[in-house]
Amino acid sequence: MISKFTIQKINDEARVEDVVGEFVTLKRRGSNLIGLCPFHNEKTPSFNVNPARNIYKCFGCGKAGGPIQFLIDYQQLSYPDSLRYLAKKYNIEIDEEQLSDEQKQKELEKHNLVESIHIANSFAQKFYTDFMLHNEDGGIGLSYFKERGFLNHTIEKFQLGFAPDQGDAFTKHALQNGFQLEVLKRAGLTSPKENSTYDFFRNRVMFPIHNMTGKVVAFGGRIMVKDPKSPKYVNTAESEVYQKSRILYGAYFAKSEISKKNECLLVEGYTDVISLHQSGIENAVASSGTALTPDQIRLIKRITPNITMLYDGDAAGIKAALRGTDLILEEGMNVRVVILPDSEDPDSYVRKTGTEGFAQYVKDNRKDLILFKTSLFADEAKKDPIKKAELIHDIVQSIGKIPDPIQRSVYVKECSQLFEMNEQVLITEVNKLRRRKINEQKSAVEKEESANRDKQEDFLPQNIHQEQFNQQVSNVRVLERDIIRILLDFGTWEIPVENDLLSVTAYVLDELDDIEFQTEDYKTILAIIRQEFGQGEVKDDKFFTSHEDEKIRELAIEILTDPYSLSENWWNKYKIVVPEKKFTFIKDIQSSILRLKQFLNITEIKKVEQLIKNSKDEAEQIKLMMLHKMLIEQKKEFARTVGNVIYRPTT
Ligand code: CTP
Ligand code: MN
Repeated sequence: MISKFTIQKINDEARVEDVVGEFVTLKRRGSNLIGLCPFHNEKTPSFNVNPARNIYKCFGCGKAGGPIQFLIDYQQLSYPDSLRYLAKKYNIEIDEEQLSDEQKQKELEKHNLVESIHIANSFAQKFYTDFMLHNEDGGIGLSYFKERGFLNHTIEKFQLGFAPDQGDAFTKHALQNGFQLEVLKRAGLTSPKENSTYDFFRNRVMFPIHNMTGKVVAFGGRIMVKDPKSPKYVNTAESEVYQKSRILYGAYFAKSEISKKNECLLVEGYTDVISLHQSGIENAVASSGTALTPDQIRLIKRITPNITMLYDGDAAGIKAALRGTDLILEEGMNVRVVILPDSEDPDSYVRKTGTEGFAQYVKDNRKDLILFKTSLFADEAKKDPIKKAELIHDIVQSIGKIPDPIQRSVYVKECSQLFEMNEQVLITEVNKLRRRKINEQKSAVEKEESANRDKQEDFLPQNIHQEQFNQQVSNVRVLERDIIRILLDFGTWEIPVENDLLSVTAYVLDELDDIEFQTEDYKTILAIIRQEFGQGEVKDDKFFTSHEDEKIRELAIEILTDPYSLSENWWNKYKIVVPEKKFTFIKDIQSSILRLKQFLNITEIKKVEQLIKNSKDEAEQIKLMMLHKMLIEQKKEFARTVGNVIYRPTT
């Protein structure tokens, strides 16, 4: 683990303008720098870098963050890899902590093994490609790809190759070049059987599988002629560097285009990805024939919320394929489906229609997932009440997974029309499900918290903790800001309160009662929220970030993108390992409101104490002292509750 000390140092040293400047041409404008946004297509620059705050923000697409976030979003690096990248850039020595000598030795060995496997895979890829291009016996592989219409530059880009038919040609060659047999086996290149030097891939055309940084981590090998006794593809087994569920084929080549188009095309096969890329449709990735996993979904989500899934045009496959899609909805992603014409797959169809035709087809035929699913089954269900009940249950499950309430209500309306049924019935069902779900999440979080309590307390140095805490209580502005941030960020979300679902806005306004904010800006926003709510409206962040009043708009953007807002601070600064933010925001709300009330209580106590001191009237003094006593009781009560809520930052 990279030490907190190192992380702090990296955070102190890393300059957003340096890091962004490596990838984006920036021009100075006033105290800021601007450039063309790398996350979306634009002609006039709206990408802003603010060196003073060490953050960037695109006023076109809204992407914002600091140096680490940029590497995570743009280079698709993990958090630790971003840290390593920055450490290297700024010559900061990485201080790994909490490892005993024995652990260090193990880490080192593991690290060496991982490195060796990477080198072996890269060596294998070159071998297969070389064999295909330069060895007489490899020519059949090249002809195979050529026949499928793959051009030279495509073959080169995807590093395609051919594995020879001889039993151990590759393994022998690798051993001669100094590779250890154990490493070749661990990489999955050589048969895992003991003492065997048999090649794992034989007489197959080879598709290397790359990870997000472009390293070859596995292969898919395709047989060239149909053989009922042999599988069409064999794939590398899982290894230290290859976890199938975390890799999407083609993602390394597609990531920048996915980001630019703000859409990811999901197909099934290696050859589909390759053909689409060759045709200039470069935002396609493949799940490699299996249902999408949560890790794969998150991989895409880091780049875009929009997934379009392309399915071959056979009905059996479609219904099966739709089963895994609720997971994607749950992540709050927009999922659309395109069914290709009968017996076509993306590979065959793009070759038939060409780039334009294909893009047009996708555009004309993509359907929203839930509506697609509903209409797919609605006709048969109408005649059969049992089927209909099952289908409704199914659709309710899907709709219930969507985090955004507005989107949910749109679906409920449309689906009730498709089923010719009462909207209210669907609403009731969906709400039932949501309540159950939120309660489950809540108790999961609580369990997790109690398990992590000790760990977390160790993790936060007590003095920083106390200092931070004091600062929070003494700074009402920060507290008000935090509450506004929560309202902007989560206002439309729902939380269970006494067997009912309340919007966060309703809950917060109720908790705040008639407390007035003291900071002018936040007072203004709170007034708008109260006013809208009074008219039965709960507005989301977009309402504020695109508000007609420029001041409100800017304020909202600023609050929502401020990496130093209170809760964000806990998350980022201490990187506490916690469940998803969305499961824990309820605690956030409670603790922010509580802290504000606590602050007001302390202010009030000071005020009353001053009054007592200055008062000459005995009757008034007694009244004030009773008030004082009550406030002190309140203060104790707050301290007890705060001790429970705040002293365990739940991120
Ligand atoms: N697949 C696999 N093992 C198999 C069959 C398929 O791993 N025995 C995976 C591969 O990743 C393949 C994907 O499922 O790319 C989709 O399968 P399919 O459509 O049959 O293969 P294509 O990639 O379309 O190959 P081709 O066009 O050559 O038929
Ligand atoms: Mn195919």
